[in-house]
Amino acid sequence: MIYYTGFNMNGERIIPKSGGPHWLYQHGGSCVTCHGPDGKGGRAVMMCNEIPPDIRFSTLTSEKMEHEAGEEEHPPYNETTIKMAITQGLNPAGQPLDECMPRWDIDENDLNDLVDFLKELDTQ
Ligand code: HEC
Repeated sequence: MIYYTGFNMNGERIIPKSGGPHWLYQHGGSCVTCHGPDGKGGRAVMMCNEIPPDIRFSTLTSEKMEHEAGEEEHPPYNETTIKMAITQGLNPAGQPLDECMPRWDIDENDLNDLVDFLKELDTQ
């Protein structure tokens, strides 16, 4: 739900706290807008320098996360660090992600649903 629409089951909207391009605030959008319906990312997004990465659970948690040349290495994600990426925009090495990735205002339940959903993307 959240992944595609930005709304949770109760019809409440999750909103970016900071970061992300400003069209996102004007027109709305959610994970799908940047990371794509299959979670694989890889398409350039308007006004973003970084190409949104593949955020399927198996990719994030695998040892061999693909990185562009010159990018800092960081350990694979786990559930906790994925949540940190979504709410605080930090990777597992504690480094900030590109500004294009919004920092989301989202409660713990919704966050759990969202991480579960990233796992479901693996099976599609
Ligand atoms: C406006 C575009 C945009 C939206 C909307 C967006 N993201 Fe991202 N996201 C990015 C970009 C760009 C990066 C890469 C940042 C970097 O590499 O520094 C990223 C990185 C990530 C990462 C870290 C991946 C990694 O390889 O380090 C996760 C996890 C993530 N996004 C999850 C989400 C989720 C969940 C949502 C919806 C709640 C979301 N994103 C919405 C653009 C977006």
